Amino acid sequence: MRTALPHSLLSSLSEFVATRTGLHFPPERWADLERGIAAAAPDFHFSDKASCARWLLSTPPTRQINEILAGHLSIGETYFFREKQSLDILGEQILVQLLQLRRRHERRLRIWSAGCCTGEEAYTIAILLDRLIPDLKEWNITILATDFNPNFLRKAMQGIYGEWSFRDAPGWLQQHYFTKRSDGRFEIHQRIRKMVTFSYLNFADDLYPSLSNNTGAMDAILCRNVLMYFTAQQTKRIAGNFYRALVDGGWLIVSPTEASHNSFSPFTPVEFPGAVLYRKSADAGTQPLAGAYPFEEAEVAPPSLPVAPTEPAAADIHAAQTDQLPATQQNEREAPSLMARDCANQGRLAEALEWCEKAIAADKLNPAHQYLGATILQEQGRYDIAIQSLMRALYLDPDFVLAHFALGNLHQSQGRYRQAQRCFTNALALLQKHPPDEVLPEADGLTSERLSEIVTSLLESLPQPAEASA
Ligand SMILES: C[S@@+](CC[C@H](N)C(=O)[O-])C[C@H]1O[C@@H](n2cnc3c(N)ncnc32)[C@H](O)[C@@H]1O
Repeated sequence: MRTALPHSLLSSLSEFVATRTGLHFPPERWADLERGIAAAAPDFHFSDKASCARWLLSTPPTRQINEILAGHLSIGETYFFREKQSLDILGEQILVQLLQLRRRHERRLRIWSAGCCTGEEAYTIAILLDRLIPDLKEWNITILATDFNPNFLRKAMQGIYGEWSFRDAPGWLQQHYFTKRSDGRFEIHQRIRKMVTFSYLNFADDLYPSLSNNTGAMDAILCRNVLMYFTAQQTKRIAGNFYRALVDGGWLIVSPTEASHNSFSPFTPVEFPGAVLYRKSADAGTQPLAGAYPFEEAEVAPPSLPVAPTEPAAADIHAAQTDQLPATQQNEREAPSLMARDCANQGRLAEALEWCEKAIAADKLNPAHQYLGATILQEQGRYDIAIQSLMRALYLDPDFVLAHFALGNLHQSQGRYRQAQRCFTNALALLQKHPPDEVLPEADGLTSERLSEIVTSLLESLPQPAEASA
């Protein structure tokens, strides 16, 4: 291994990078570390890597610096139908069984591509499902794709790829799912693009699972070719979060080179020919495999949400009324919304919605209940009703930052980038009124500063008007 930087500097840098980003650079990867620092140097306004490295070692930590650094040090390499064996297992063994089970009940499926890079993995899943489910329109499919690199996310949302992204793809892929453009690149069909929601999330740092970023109750999480770059300690922490983000019986899929029983200890390793997948035990809650995805028979009607009152200061009135209630009555008031959250976290969405309706009936002026209803409706894929609930929440409390943020996410997921931009800009403006370390209401512990950073990254990742017109 040849490096230009002195070993003493590389040694300090690798220690520094592990602490700041969780990424692991042992001596055999110092050449990669050096390359990453050289690539990051211009972003930090340095023309040479040695000065940049010394500056980094002496500068106080900020999240922005850490993410720029991690963005250059983590490898953005991906392609369609990568590691086909795991995908075959997912499609032919796991999804087939799951779809059969769900067909009779709630037709719903949630998959997360964590560390999605430029989107090839998430679109591969969408295409897999398109081929597997003949009545796709009857299903509520969520494919969440997250990354912490806004440039990757922007490219992912555009859905335009060169030949290199198809290097291991089956022959039919371009023909059936892409349109060739005049510049020789390939554009994914709108129908498939709309199946995937791209979003910013740093899974080494951010909070998940959480209703606020729609990361709960997943059936499968693909986090492939990402964790191998993290320290063992960081990997364990992330795996623990993924475990909680899955429904009972849900699956974590990592790359074959990342499989390690020690790192994924809460999971049960399940050996398939050519790959080991990790399963959250079906009785982590109460259900055996066949019942691991318990959903109600009946379709629950949209909650009959109350018409918002005409008083503009509704949220203030609500706060004043709540303060005057004795503790026992307050607990009674809060019980339905706690139940709703609990059910939603376990993927029992119809039940969650019923509890949310009760919460709204008991406490009509509370914007948090409308917001909670919206997050559940969003998980059910009922985007239009979710938007109405968020509008009600904002009517009750125009300064409700999380509602602006959620509305932006919903518009973004539907490809309405201009509306998304407006909502994110509103959220940013409101966030300036909050102290950086204030934990925001309904945000599951998220601080104002971190949400500002997330919203800023989301704004950066939105396709520009010309790009968005496609
Ligand atoms: C090698 S790509 C893997 C892409 C895809 N999963 C695959 O297997 O083809 C690794 C991705 O993980 C992302 N990544 C690395 N660390 C991350 C973090 N802490 N939070 C979110 N994404 C991260 C990188 O930005 C990059 O896009």
